[in-house]
Amino acid sequence: MTEDLVLAAIPSFDAPPGGRLTADMLTAYRAAGVLVLRDFVSVDACNDLRARALELIDTFDPFTVRSVFSTTDQEQLDDDYFIESGDKIRFFLESDAFDERGGLRLAKEHCLNKMGHAMHDLDPIFDAFSRTPELAEIARRLGFDDPKILQSMYIFKPAHIGSEVVCHQDSTYLYTEPESCVGFWFALEDATLENGCMQFIPGAHKTALKKRNYRRPDGKLVTETLDETPWPEDRKIAAEVGAGTLVVFDGRAPHLSAANRSSKSRHAYTLHIIDAACHYPEENWLQRGPDLPLRGFG
Ligand code: FE2
Repeated sequence: MTEDLVLAAIPSFDAPPGGRLTADMLTAYRAAGVLVLRDFVSVDACNDLRARALELIDTFDPFTVRSVFSTTDQEQLDDDYFIESGDKIRFFLESDAFDERGGLRLAKEHCLNKMGHAMHDLDPIFDAFSRTPELAEIARRLGFDDPKILQSMYIFKPAHIGSEVVCHQDSTYLYTEPESCVGFWFALEDATLENGCMQFIPGAHKTALKKRNYRRPDGKLVTETLDETPWPEDRKIAAEVGAGTLVVFDGRAPHLSAANRSSKSRHAYTLHIIDAACHYPEENWLQRGPDLPLRGFG
């Protein structure tokens, strides 16, 4: 496969047995910054994880959270709820979920943007999905010395109100020195342009980070722009994939997704891996308490 061909498409393969990425797969990944592995997990496994997510949603009372939010400083309380979620399971609603009176337009499971960020360490079903020999092998072949699963997110991208995610690099949020972040993105439902699939700019991961998002000592979330140049979004390519697909992507790979205005949800599950050999700054927003240290795939 020539580099030109790689950059004109997102490299896509059937999932390799045992997660043993081939030399061709690794070459394509290095060139494009993204790699699609079809049928990595079974549709049954996807459905089981979706069912577990619904059970966890049962424990979420959006009105309790919003009554907290409605007190003094809305923005700061929103920030705190997010910042404290690194070692918890918390729920984040879509901004279009609310009606004029502040109530939810739909049942809560149809109003969620995401759930995060430690299901993989706190819930046995998510733990089992996140820690498999196949994923451990992929991490090893990508070159991780000491991989740690930094965060998990369940992305709902609900029908009709799923919001747009503008073009960004994940290492902006999950920064290490040197950079080591890699994303594992699992389609739990078919993802198409219609319901807001992921889109990538193949090859653009060779660009340095354009932003740093970090947590200041005063607890405010701050974004620092390092490079104002816009992304060449005319080169973006949709990753339309079936349920069970794993998309592996570099922490520098710029990606985005459009709003979901369709009648179909687009559930996905993501893991972000960092290398424990790299420095993890204390100013990063995502921090673990002493009771829940980061773990790898074992
Ligand atoms: Fe992202």
